[in-house]
Amino acid sequence: MLFYKVVLFLHILFSILWFGGVLFIGSCIFPILRKVDAASARNLLLKVMYYSHPKLVLAGILVILTGTVLGVVIGPIDTISDLWQTDYGVWWSKALIVGILTLGYGSFIGYKQTVSVLTDDLIIHLTNKGHRGLFNQKLFYSFLISSVEGVGFLTLLYLMIFK
Ligand code: HEM
Repeated sequence: MLFYKVVLFLHILFSILWFGGVLFIGSCIFPILRKVDAASARNLLLKVMYYSHPKLVLAGILVILTGTVLGVVIGPIDTISDLWQTDYGVWWSKALIVGILTLGYGSFIGYKQTVSVLTDDLIIHLTNKGHRGLFNQKLFYSFLISSVEGVGFLTLLYLMIFK
């Protein structure tokens, strides 16, 4: 029971860091970019992306690992057929698939799209000259692409609540 509580505590803590970290960038860092000049905005977001990315990926991996310990080591999943023959197994499989897709999407699509805008030569040239029209437009597009990750998080929350 103590082991279960410790792993559940870690699972919830890592999911707060993962979900909360991504939410913080979208809801606080992105709006701040409008308040500073174009070159500073580009530099700031690039630093935030480089610094936060490995930590967010690690938090996501730890959520999936602790979720696996909760379901398979401590929980009732004993055989591979439990994954489709029991309600718990079906629920856990959905959480695992959505977790992996959300982490993969954020790491390989959302992150790469935003970094490609921030390291684009034309964008660097224009923002250094103080022009931000194209930068804002491409950043908004990146924001829309990255927000698909939010759909994954909401699905995971739904699955965790309606187990
Ligand atoms: C951001 C994503 C996630 C959040 C916010 C989250 C949150 C939670 C919360 C709050 C609980 C406690 C629920 C309860 O005791 O009724 C829980 C339990 C659990 N979660 Fe997650 N979770 C996430 C992702 C995942 C993933 C990806 C998996 C699968 C790999 C997973 C597997 C589990 C399992 C097996 C339990 C224990 C359920 C039980 O048997 O009591 N979770 N999670």
